[in-house]
Amino acid sequence: MKRRLKQAAIVIVVVFAAAQLIRPDRANPATDASHSIQAHVGTTSELIPVLNRACGDCHSNETVWPWYTQVAPTSWLMAYAVSEGRKAVNFSEWAAYSPAQQQMLLTESCRDASSGKMPSGIYTALRPEAKLSTRDVETICAASRETKATAAESPDDNSSSAR
Ligand code: HEC
Repeated sequence: MKRRLKQAAIVIVVVFAAAQLIRPDRANPATDASHSIQAHVGTTSELIPVLNRACGDCHSNETVWPWYTQVAPTSWLMAYAVSEGRKAVNFSEWAAYSPAQQQMLLTESCRDASSGKMPSGIYTALRPEAKLSTRDVETICAASRETKATAAESPDDNSSSAR
């Protein structure tokens, strides 16, 4: 029995060490700050610190990669979440979305933040500071309502007709 435990321990150590050789790409893409949501809504907006703190790791080009994201299998999970997250919405590339898309993404952000889907529980277990307070959720939802109101004010903007 003791011998089996020892063998199992050796296997685990070897697999863990071998796993470290598979290193996902963690380089953040270059960003033009003028394309970001920060430039769009203004840095004084209350929305920005909330997005930076709770969403930026997966939904911007400014991902912070602490030591545990250098260690497999967390490194794989994080790299996957970042690549899928940036595809879903990238706040660093905000200017690339049409006004209608921006409005939809903020509406979805409000919905996901309210339901607790974003940021996910696995992530906030590692990053408790990313948890959203009721006020943070309200800040995101207020921003979503604001973009809707702005879109309603400018009916000549074609893309706002997707309300
Ligand atoms: C740990 C990484 C991570 C964090 C942090 C994170 N997201 Fe996501 N998000 C994802 C991934 C991965 C997807 C795409 C797959 C999915 O829907 O689960 C996604 C999808 C989305 C979508 C697209 C709609 C949807 O639900 O699929 C929105 C909107 C969104 N996230 C908003 C947010 C907001 C707002 C925050 C911060 C309050 C946030 N996310 C934090 C990883 C993350």
